[in-house]
Amino acid sequence: MGIASGPAAPGADHVIAQRWDTYSTVDHAIWRALFERQSRLLAGRACDAYLDGLAALGVVADGIPDFERLSGILARTTGWRIVAVPGLVPDDVFFRHLARRQFPATRWIRRRDQMDYLQEPDVFHDVFGHVPMLMNPVFADYLQAYGRGGLKALSLGALRNLSRLYWYTVEFGLIATAAGLRIYGSGIVSSHGETIYCLDDPGPKRIAFDLMRIMRTEYRIDDFQDCYFVIDDFDQLFAATRPDFTPYYAALRDLPDIAPGAVVAGDRLIPPAATARSGDRR
Ligand SMILES: [Fe+2]
Repeated sequence: MGIASGPAAPGADHVIAQRWDTYSTVDHAIWRALFERQSRLLAGRACDAYLDGLAALGVVADGIPDFERLSGILARTTGWRIVAVPGLVPDDVFFRHLARRQFPATRWIRRRDQMDYLQEPDVFHDVFGHVPMLMNPVFADYLQAYGRGGLKALSLGALRNLSRLYWYTVEFGLIATAAGLRIYGSGIVSSHGETIYCLDDPGPKRIAFDLMRIMRTEYRIDDFQDCYFVIDDFDQLFAATRPDFTPYYAALRDLPDIAPGAVVAGDRLIPPAATARSGDRR
């Protein structure tokens, strides 16, 4: 999930070697179990951009992927690459990597008793969750723009607002399609329980994308989300990041935060029927 606090040592990019050859058979078996469980579930639930990216990368059940191999495919497709990091990195380091089209991915994998919940991202979340979307050219540009915007938000003291955009799009975003709602958020596609909950459960609110609304909305880090924001397409997302956010941050200082499950004036709620999955091409 990539967001942490604290300054970096000057010039430190926190990049380490993945050392793929040091993963154990148990590590690869945990990847396989996670991969098989999630890939079965995601057909008809994840968006085509995600599923196409996963297939094109050749990320399969066999074991933890070699970052160098994936970076070769990414570089040829959208100019991104993966760099290994030991865990969460400071905000400025994280943003600089994104601005350079480098995705920082943790190299460690969870234990068998952590299949369903992790406090910090592991290699399954970072690679299975995030990397397939980097094969989509528009999303790839969006994430780079987010990195640049993050460096600016840091300098303006507005990270609290901007990090909500990352949370409700990159991590927990939904997209409307002709066949119904689909998932593109990495925090969802790498979570067995939330993949079902975010589309099927009547509890959470599904709200049409609204940049300022999102930047006012608090989020939960300890449970499934109380609300999800729904984009029409990735062009809408990228277009939203084009303007200079400086006047937005100034306006946000005078507006109250919104609780995660609240509905406010101006919200366009996506009706539950839109979540029905029919006519899937997968
Ligand atoms: Fe993440």
